[in-house]
Amino acid sequence: MSQTAQATVGHDELAVLKLLALEGGLEGDVKISCSHLADRLDASNQTASRRLQRLESADLLERDTVSDGQWVAVTDEGERALHAEYEDYRRIFERDAEVELEGVVTSGMGEGRHYISLPGYKRQFEDRLGYEPFPGTLNVELRDESVRRRSAVSSLEPVPIDGWEDEERTYGPAVCYPATIETADDAVYEGAHTIAPERTHHDDDQLEVIAPVKLRDELGLEDDDHVTVTVGDRE
Ligand code: CDP
Repeated sequence: MSQTAQATVGHDELAVLKLLALEGGLEGDVKISCSHLADRLDASNQTASRRLQRLESADLLERDTVSDGQWVAVTDEGERALHAEYEDYRRIFERDAEVELEGVVTSGMGEGRHYISLPGYKRQFEDRLGYEPFPGTLNVELRDESVRRRSAVSSLEPVPIDGWEDEERTYGPAVCYPATIETADDAVYEGAHTIAPERTHHDDDQLEVIAPVKLRDELGLEDDDHVTVTVGDRE
């Protein structure tokens, strides 16, 4: 959200955006009148109109005023704002639930192999994950929707991997979560983990997966193949 959006859009405006989304504003233009909106909000026409203006100037809503009302559509930015609210509720009500992320297999630059094999990490994988990982990480480029959903992972129980150092440098802490990988052909591998640096960006679209086996061989995966990664408890 831009600076101006943060300054002018609060819970009242988001409530209006949610109402418009409930009326179909995510799918395309919907026609509304200020008095109808005012009724729904239990507020004055003026208040309803001001909130619409604020949503528009924050780029969360597009409007086209006609003689008997206005056509409105929630923008991508608006959808993201609503989705952030949704994730908050998900975190409140779905603690310890699983988070399903979708994406395609990609090739990285061969760095995974190096990091996963470092002794300071390897020892911890054996202790805390219960296996010695195949040396490498399977990279999954997440779909936009899953990039947004990814923030819900932070409500799950992580397996922490501590930072450590050798004579030359320090290596940062990381966070693992149990993960199940499923391919488009319904092949499933249950004993994997996602791994990410501890201070990762929630909007990062790259998911990295480790496992005791080479997942490409185990699941017959190639670049661009679609996979679903279910992150969370396997209990
Ligand atoms: O080159 P890239 O960074 O993608 O790979 P890497 O982390 O060095 O891993 C070597 C290869 O093994 C890559 O093709 C990974 O996709 C694959 N891999 C796998 O199939 N299963 C794992 N558990 C880990 C890596």
